[in-house]
Amino acid sequence: MAQGFKGRSFVSLIDWGAEDLLAVLDTADELKRMARRGVREPLLQGRVLGMIFQKPSTRTRVSFDVAMRHLGGSALYLGASDLQLGRGETVPDTARVLGRYVDAVMARTFAHRDVLDLAEHAGVPVINGLTDFDHPCQALADAETLREVYVPRGRALEDLTVAYVGDGNNVCHSLLHASARFGFRLRVAHPRGYAPQAAVVAAAGPRAQVGEDPREAVRGADAIYTDVWASMGQEAEHAERVGRFRPYQVNEALCALARPDHVVLHCLPAHRGEEICDSVVDGPHSQVWRQAENRLHAQKALLALVIP
Ligand code: CP
Ligand code: NVA
Repeated sequence: MAQGFKGRSFVSLIDWGAEDLLAVLDTADELKRMARRGVREPLLQGRVLGMIFQKPSTRTRVSFDVAMRHLGGSALYLGASDLQLGRGETVPDTARVLGRYVDAVMARTFAHRDVLDLAEHAGVPVINGLTDFDHPCQALADAETLREVYVPRGRALEDLTVAYVGDGNNVCHSLLHASARFGFRLRVAHPRGYAPQAAVVAAAGPRAQVGEDPREAVRGADAIYTDVWASMGQEAEHAERVGRFRPYQVNEALCALARPDHVVLHCLPAHRGEEICDSVVDGPHSQVWRQAENRLHAQKALLALVIP
């Protein structure tokens, strides 16, 4: 297995170099092959991961917990109301204390600053399990999924064009970071007023294009990706967003513009009938279940590499 990662945090995907990220994907593939044979190496025997959740989660919570168990360690679920954080203890103080108990921290927060503060003060690796700004573990699993589907078809990540249709949100930001590091072309189509942050687009470089026309983004694409129209914390905007985002629905008519062998990705949870139709999520091009499974393998690799 790759060496030299112990003690490192994973706050944003762009913080890591391409070679290091590819080493994580290679490790994920290896661990996935082992898991398929029923082999679970106790690489993190006795280690404990603290998991702070200020927002709900199915995939992130379960995949991190299961990953730690498969590796011989364990995970603590620390919900918003379980910690003194909810009563005003500061994030740096919480980090200083947690870092003396656990071997690594995974955190899902609203403010991205909170994960940065945790990483600065915990003294143990901190992994971003989604903030309002980005979702790097998702993009890692997305890259693993694209590689797994396309490499056997003779196409490397750099040969692919991914169309992201929808909100310029946390998931979109991490895909932009992933485009910069893994080299796939990314075409983002968003409704006016819902663009990804300009600095993230600029950092992604020339392989990323951002516009407002979903058809233009999807035409000839190898992968179509979408996410919910209203993210966690934006529930009050839901009705307004549904009105604005309707032309950005990923449905069969839109998908027909992509390459005939395209794949459809969604980080999930899906709001069926809004950003994506049943016939697309459940259709022959959908790779969303593989993508969800790969959260487990990608994060297992990350944990095995960074936890001392
Ligand atoms: N995709 C994702 O992060 O899902 P959860 O919100 O269920 O963790
Ligand atoms: N953009 C979504 C992603 C959920 C995994 C949200 O933040 O709610």
